[in-house]
Amino acid sequence: MADWDPELYHRFQRYRAEPVDLILERLPLTSADTIADFGCGTGEYTVELARRAAPDGTALGLDSSPAMIHRARALCATLEPPLARRLRFVEGDFRTIEDDARYSVIFSNAALQWATNHRDVLARWTRALKPGGRIVVQMPSNHEETAQMTLVAMTADAVWQPLVGDLRTPSHAVGTADEYRTMLEALGLVDVACYYHVFHHPMTSPAAIVEFTRATALRPFFERIPVARHDEFIADFTQRLERAYGTNGPLIFEFRRLFLWARRPA
Ligand SMILES: C[S@@+](CC[C@H](N)C(=O)[O-])C[C@H]1O[C@@H](n2cnc3c(N)ncnc32)[C@H](O)[C@@H]1O
Repeated sequence: MADWDPELYHRFQRYRAEPVDLILERLPLTSADTIADFGCGTGEYTVELARRAAPDGTALGLDSSPAMIHRARALCATLEPPLARRLRFVEGDFRTIEDDARYSVIFSNAALQWATNHRDVLARWTRALKPGGRIVVQMPSNHEETAQMTLVAMTADAVWQPLVGDLRTPSHAVGTADEYRTMLEALGLVDVACYYHVFHHPMTSPAAIVEFTRATALRPFFERIPVARHDEFIADFTQRLERAYGTNGPLIFEFRRLFLWARRPA
């Protein structure tokens, strides 16, 4: 798949940061922490985690996107040296990590939905936790919201179906809160909490929702559609959203996200 576009991804940074704010509110960190941020993107949250684990806590940001890691390293180079020294950004795949008992905190925001077989990935992450270590994961679980339902209906139409096949948005890879509770407990984790939170993002128009989605959920679709038809795809999606939401003006974009918390027994 084509690499991520950090600029486009950052266009709605304020909204994308809201779930992280909720996580940070209830994630106490100390100087003894060794943190991993899986699917760290451009690294802002990895930096914030390390900042909160001052003076000696360390944070690794791991991401498979060269563009994202490049941006994260550039950010790191602007930081005060005592903080920068506690950070490391590495290009790699979080599905294949083999770090045993290395981290006291594993954090992963809006990344695991890009993988399949979450049980195997979470089993690896569990092994990577030190005894007593905590894991916190956030994933979009929004496939029943109007925009994603509209996208699924649109790509089933004869115009787009032969190009996109049975492709779905990454949210479709995300199970239910109950499924993850069972999975995490079966992995031997304790203090398991899995729950949804719906965020309400004011948007200027349905076209802004298309823009929001373009940096993330639409990426796999653009992979399958010839570049020459991307504008047509965007125009079709925008018109359908205007009909579905009943407006081409301001609206509230409801975005449901799933939070997973657990701890490895000490
Ligand atoms: C939506 S971005 C989230 C980035 C960051 N965590 C944030 O909240 O801003 C998803 C990130 O997951 C990364 N990613 C997806 N699959 C991955 C994998 N198998 N291993 C490592 N990183 C992955 C992507 O490269 C991308 O940077």
